[in-house]
Amino acid sequence: MSVVLYPGSFDPIHYGHLDVISQAAELFGSVVVAVMHNPQKPSGALSTSERVRIAQEACSGMANVRVEAFAGLAVDAAKTVGALCIVKGLRTPGDFEVEQQMAHTNFAVAGVRTVYVPCQPGLSHVSSRFIRDIAAHGGDVSSMVPSVVADALTSLQRS
Ligand code: PNS
Repeated sequence: MSVVLYPGSFDPIHYGHLDVISQAAELFGSVVVAVMHNPQKPSGALSTSERVRIAQEACSGMANVRVEAFAGLAVDAAKTVGALCIVKGLRTPGDFEVEQQMAHTNFAVAGVRTVYVPCQPGLSHVSSRFIRDIAAHGGDVSSMVPSVVADALTSLQRS
């Protein structure tokens, strides 16, 4: 059994992420979901502690999956948890371009490899950005996120 690191901003976690986590757990045995900061996405919806709490609840039914917040570099988080590699999900060709550059950089600077997991075809449209946008306008996101996430986004609108 190997440990792998699945880093992301998870703002919020959604069914696409959960599909990748479940595939990674099946393939490798154990997954650490690393809630991290993406400097390209400074204005999210949820605080880091909320993202962790919600992701923990969303993953609570999955064996050998744990969720933690990490500051700093994904490669350092991977080394801290003793990960065999980083896992990333791919939805679209656009994802591949971004992820390939990060994967090459992470290998070049720290020797940490990345393995891509394609998402299920029926989930390729699911994105945290659109979920935030739809929820902010009072729309229905229940086909894209578990109820714990939908509830958290709703209470954010009310606060
Ligand atoms: O879900 P996201 O926003 O696509 O995740 C991006 C994330 C958080 C995995 C990426 O921004 C990241 O790895 N951040 C940690 C800082 C880091 O390692 N930067 C160097 C990237 S080559």
